[in-house]
Amino acid sequence: MIMDSQGLSSKKPVVITIDGPTASGKGTVAQHLADKLGFHYLDSGALYRLTALSALRAKVALDDMETIADMAKSLPCAFRQGRILLAGEDVTDSIRAEEVGNTASKIAAYQPVRDALKALQVSFRQPPGLVTDGRDMGTVIFPDADLKVFLTASVAVRAERRYKQLLEKGFPANIDTLRKDLEDRDKRDSERKSSPLRPAADAVMLDTSFLGIDESVQCILDACAEKKI
Ligand code: DC
Repeated sequence: MIMDSQGLSSKKPVVITIDGPTASGKGTVAQHLADKLGFHYLDSGALYRLTALSALRAKVALDDMETIADMAKSLPCAFRQGRILLAGEDVTDSIRAEEVGNTASKIAAYQPVRDALKALQVSFRQPPGLVTDGRDMGTVIFPDADLKVFLTASVAVRAERRYKQLLEKGFPANIDTLRKDLEDRDKRDSERKSSPLRPAADAVMLDTSFLGIDESVQCILDACAEKKI
């Protein structure tokens, strides 16, 4: 509850967090859920990917934590009608390249980079509500979220989903390499010291290995109804 200057209380806008490992389908599920509820949507991984793309393009050494954190702090990004812009350029597809994802996973381990992106993420909590996906949305960025979901799927299913996604976007892909990359990224995201990937203690666990998008969204809508969201 927030108190205004007259001591009147006002509730913060609703936020639903969907965390989980890479390629678990959380982005698609979160986006569909936001559409159904008429809420805003934040893909927090895109912010790490945008920072990674900026660093790669500027040829910054990937261990230069402070310079990368400075870039994150003043990230010239915008989200418009499902498209992601960096300094006005549409980079929606280029940030999905594997090199950018792997770099994002590396720089996401730096606490100064995470700190630099925090205020931007919090600023997306606007009426009528927000659905957001990432790794630490329920544990660190929105610990007071109204509903926290942790989405998982087996490595084999996730590798297959990522493979199809990449082919659709016209990127070359090899399923065995992808599976190995996923396992490496899971390990790095879960074992890092800063905001490791893990379910919040009060998260609802949802395994989507054998669920379609609509079924996954429906499970979350059922959890929302239970919580009267
Ligand atoms: O969800 P994604 O694959 O687009 O995220 C890219 C990388 O960014 C991922 O490997 C870890 C990092 N990330 C993070 O550390 N915290 C978040 N809230 C979102 C993403």
